[in-house]
Amino acid sequence: MIKKSDLFKEIKQRVNIRLSQSDIYQFMAFLLNDKYDQIPITLNDEIFNFDYNKFEKYLTLLNEKMPLAYLIGKTYFCGNEFIVNSDVLIPRNDTELLIDEIKSSYDSNESLIIGDICTGSGAIGISLAKIFPKSKIYISDISEPALKVAEKNINHNYVENVEIKLGDFVEPFIKEKIKLDVLVSNPPYIQINDCDVDESVYKYEPHLALFAEDGGLEFYKRILNSIDTIMNFEKDWMIILEYGWKQKEEIESIFSKSNYLQEHKKDHFGNWRYVILKKEK
Ligand SMILES: C[S@@+](CC[C@H](N)C(=O)[O-])C[C@H]1O[C@@H](n2cnc3c(N)ncnc32)[C@H](O)[C@@H]1O
Repeated sequence: MIKKSDLFKEIKQRVNIRLSQSDIYQFMAFLLNDKYDQIPITLNDEIFNFDYNKFEKYLTLLNEKMPLAYLIGKTYFCGNEFIVNSDVLIPRNDTELLIDEIKSSYDSNESLIIGDICTGSGAIGISLAKIFPKSKIYISDISEPALKVAEKNINHNYVENVEIKLGDFVEPFIKEKIKLDVLVSNPPYIQINDCDVDESVYKYEPHLALFAEDGGLEFYKRILNSIDTIMNFEKDWMIILEYGWKQKEEIESIFSKSNYLQEHKKDHFGNWRYVILKKEK
């Protein structure tokens, strides 16, 4: 019989990828069918009927660089739990900055119309739905399998103010004449054939979520041409878009062709990572 603390040590020793303490607790909770928050407070407990085959199988997958989130089928974003599978990008911590920005720009009681375009798992839109319960949130994607995951996440997070739209980028909004007060998007932005993509990302994450035409800039150029059609000019609208850490100058040049104010912001590592567009005052 082994203790949970022994299992913790064994995972730490045998795993050849970087796992934080909290990652190991999540992996242990998955292996032991236990609750994540129970693991750290029960480390001295012995494990009954430990399934060594399951342990070896999943440890091998981790060492083959399968992301932990895909392996355990869930991840956390803005403090909420999201179901993920290989049809959706694993939401990244950096993307939470977009949420913080919107949160600090509007009162949580406002009734906004928000669009999370290229939603994937729905993490951005569903997190916003919790912060702005009186707002209507449209989440859209071109991938039907991704939207199936997003639908599960709507139910998993008990939000009722989110509606799903299937379609190519801004098309569903144009077609249905939906005017947005806030448009948020983390679109695919990696240049096709970029050799710097992490091996694990390239091997496991959906390429539809990663790569974009036009040197990775396709979606920013498409937004520029749609602002006048999809934003609600009656209000102080806002567009917020994530981009890659080397793309600031190109993005700046794209949006300098418009009359709108643009402000660029950095992530926690000091890299330029997102742009905010607003109407000129
Ligand atoms: C970088 S992922 C972002 C997922 C999610 N918003 C997040 O931040 O975790 C980009 C998403 O864009 C979707 N996508 C790719 N091309 C698209 C298109 N032409 N129209 C709409 N969505 C698209 C992909 O299916 C993927 O879910």
